[in-house]
Amino acid sequence: MKSFYRSISLPTTLAVFISFFSCQTSNDSINMDAINNDSHSFARLGQSIITHLNWDARIDFNKKKIFATATYQIKKLPNAKIIVLDTKNLNIRSVVNGNNETLPFELLEPQHFLGQALKIQLSSNTKLISITYETNKSAEALQWLSPQQTADKTFPFLFTQSQAILARSWIPIQDSPGIRFTYDAKVEVPKNLIALMSANNPTKKNDSGIYNFKMEQPIPAYLLALSAGDLVYKPISDRSGVYAEPSVLDDALYEFEDLEKMISTAESLYGEYKWGKYDLLVLPPSFPFGGMENPKLTFATPTILAGDKSLTSLVAHELAHSWSGNLVTNATWDDFWLNEGFTVYFEYRIMEALYGREYSEMLASLSMNGLKEELESLPAEDTRLKLNLKGRNPDDGMTSIAYDKGYFFLRSLEEKFGREKFDLFLKTYFSQNAYQSITTEKFIEILNKQLIEEYQIDLPKDFLNEWIYTHGLPNDSPTPSPEKFKTVDKAILQLLKNMTASQMKDEFKTDQWSTHEWIQFVSELPNQLDSVQLRSLDEVFGFTKSQNSEIFSVWAKVSIQNNYQPCYPYIESFLIKTGRRKFLMPLYTALIQTEEGKKWAKEVYKKARPNYHYVASSSIDELLE
Ligand code: BES
Ligand code: ZN
Repeated sequence: MKSFYRSISLPTTLAVFISFFSCQTSNDSINMDAINNDSHSFARLGQSIITHLNWDARIDFNKKKIFATATYQIKKLPNAKIIVLDTKNLNIRSVVNGNNETLPFELLEPQHFLGQALKIQLSSNTKLISITYETNKSAEALQWLSPQQTADKTFPFLFTQSQAILARSWIPIQDSPGIRFTYDAKVEVPKNLIALMSANNPTKKNDSGIYNFKMEQPIPAYLLALSAGDLVYKPISDRSGVYAEPSVLDDALYEFEDLEKMISTAESLYGEYKWGKYDLLVLPPSFPFGGMENPKLTFATPTILAGDKSLTSLVAHELAHSWSGNLVTNATWDDFWLNEGFTVYFEYRIMEALYGREYSEMLASLSMNGLKEELESLPAEDTRLKLNLKGRNPDDGMTSIAYDKGYFFLRSLEEKFGREKFDLFLKTYFSQNAYQSITTEKFIEILNKQLIEEYQIDLPKDFLNEWIYTHGLPNDSPTPSPEKFKTVDKAILQLLKNMTASQMKDEFKTDQWSTHEWIQFVSELPNQLDSVQLRSLDEVFGFTKSQNSEIFSVWAKVSIQNNYQPCYPYIESFLIKTGRRKFLMPLYTALIQTEEGKKWAKEVYKKARPNYHYVASSSIDELLE
């Protein structure tokens, strides 16, 4: 989230490889283009790529380690002598070829956040390499939870979060979104747990604790995922269902009742769902994201279980990634908007089809608010759609630029060409580029050929350049303005003109307001409110005790800005229980604005940190120094 510029320098050994391999000729069968420019992976240095992974693993909850052998089928140039994989904090025990003969390997000097290149010598006929290794306690993708940190408090739990470049902390891999491979796996977990992966999954525990997996479609490494815990499954349709801890399952099934409708709506928009099953896994609350689009099995935070289905656009989002992201993938993290901007666009289209235009306009309007706010704090160069993250953590690219500026760019194309033509263009884009990685430049080429030249519609001069390569938001960006939010904004004005909260309740029939109207209301309140106003709003609308995580988190921010003490105990337990970074960052950021707040934040963080995944704790460590 926050930018930290750190320059890295390649050790001399790597520099020598680069100059050596840059004079190699290219091989048609390997798409070197897609991997050459990824500055966040060492894989390109070897000019050999993995095509299939066989993973044989044992999950040890006592040692908090994974012991595994990863066997790869590889494709290489006839004269390539090495293959290079990404690793981070792995203990590599041995590397052998298909005949069980030792292959010499070398772990190069660690690079901050990139980890270490694992350089393996190949003989002329090597087609298979097998790496035996174990993970380290500090493996950044993994979060090992004690029973106490789960909903049912009986069994331990493990989950991974690989995106953007953390897959390398639990498996030696070519960790570049431009390199795809199929996989199968055999995973052993303690007998009372079930293991799940981003693959075909079991739906029941077995007696052996050994589970087998297969992913037949090629995926990039950031979509590798594993979870193990006391989980049960119930189907929603014949191709979708929910995994959750036993006590959470029924609530989750209710919340996600419309799941099959979402899938078929998505298919009617942009073509067949290609991954067979689409299941959801509801994780414990420390999961650092809202959702993660692991193929066949989206990982989701329990903070979207609002009890009224009001936060399910997140599911539409992760589902939409089954096209934008998982089928057609950003080639590098500089092209991240191709994953997220398209997905937000697709998400809102699904929500519009299911719940109406007013609903999706509220989502779009909240996007615009967030985008405008973030534009004020980001360095100008990070506000282009095409990013330059070289030498930095790709996490820095996870801002509303990729998501919301990306969305508004696509929406403005839709508005220029009309929905029918734009939808046809997108549908073709997904089918023609399925299982490919795409750079921004390649997308522009396709856009020019298949939309702009095809329909000969004049775009404003410099249109693409402004959206993609220029800072900020173009002046003529679409601006959503849902009727319901106009009413919400009027209510705020009335409040400021001394209308009381209970008068407002009657006058504006707030009993009928939806979650999104409340989010708009609370987040558009003026920054400074006095304690009488806050108290009466809270009394009438019950924000402090809201069970809706989105409403609570915007209210918590207002409370911090105005030092509204009655909310603080609730903020404390929210910060301790929830590990979702999107909620944590604004709250800790608001707290550290005053000395007193900073002191309190540090005390709370001391208690909360053991519950956070590395992705969250590393961001907050940095924030609190
Ligand atoms: N793929 C992202 C999550 C991600 C991005 C993880 C970059 C690591 C690096 C996922 O699809 C996502 O965007 N999640 C959002 C939800 C969404 C509704 C905007 C989140 O977690 O908040
Ligand atoms: Zn996403």
